[in-house]
Amino acid sequence: MEGLNTLSMVHAFLRAQVRPGALCIDATAGRGRDTALLCRLAGPEGRVLAFDVQQSALDQTAALLDSEGLRAELHLVGHERMAEFAGAGSVDCVVFNFGRLPGGDPQIMTRAESSVAAVRAALELLRVGGVLALAIYYGGPNGYEERDALLDFLGGVDPKRYSVLCCDWRNRRGDPPIAVFVWREH
Ligand SMILES: C[S@@+](CC[C@H](N)C(=O)[O-])C[C@H]1O[C@@H](n2cnc3c(N)ncnc32)[C@H](O)[C@@H]1O
Repeated sequence: MEGLNTLSMVHAFLRAQVRPGALCIDATAGRGRDTALLCRLAGPEGRVLAFDVQQSALDQTAALLDSEGLRAELHLVGHERMAEFAGAGSVDCVVFNFGRLPGGDPQIMTRAESSVAAVRAALELLRVGGVLALAIYYGGPNGYEERDALLDFLGGVDPKRYSVLCCDWRNRRGDPPIAVFVWREH
């Protein structure tokens, strides 16, 4: 069993929700760990798209997938453009892991405006019953702007169409990332 932290909770949620044959999107490929998990869960009949704005992230993702015999469609494109790659109401699962690529360009990070635009796009891509999982990093050099913008936006999402569960850590120190889980209801 993985240690209990935001990423392990997101991964447990994905394992519970993503079925073989699923169409999945990793909106922040990074080093590829979420992409690889989605590929394993969706299986050979499924399809996984992964986005990142750094070639080094996509290279690391491709290397990880190769080493595990997995396949995904990797796009050097900002996630705010994901609607160009999948139809509205067609996607089973979208994952976001906001922040910076460890060891990557420290100037490149997810940012409030494009992150909110991407989550808005992801909500429209979800099929009924589809899910969204977010890990929101904040504090330190990232600041709080992106977290606040995302939580503000998520608080205003139509409750007739989506349910939003936000899990923050009340007594852990050091600004641990917040996990957010969204289901499309109608
Ligand atoms: C915390 S890392 C993701 C970690 C990754 N999920 C993993 O399993 O290793 C965040 C990634 O988001 C990427 N990123 C930043 N802005 C982006 C954007 N507009 N669209 C897509 N990816 C972006 C960064 O380049 C970085 O690789």
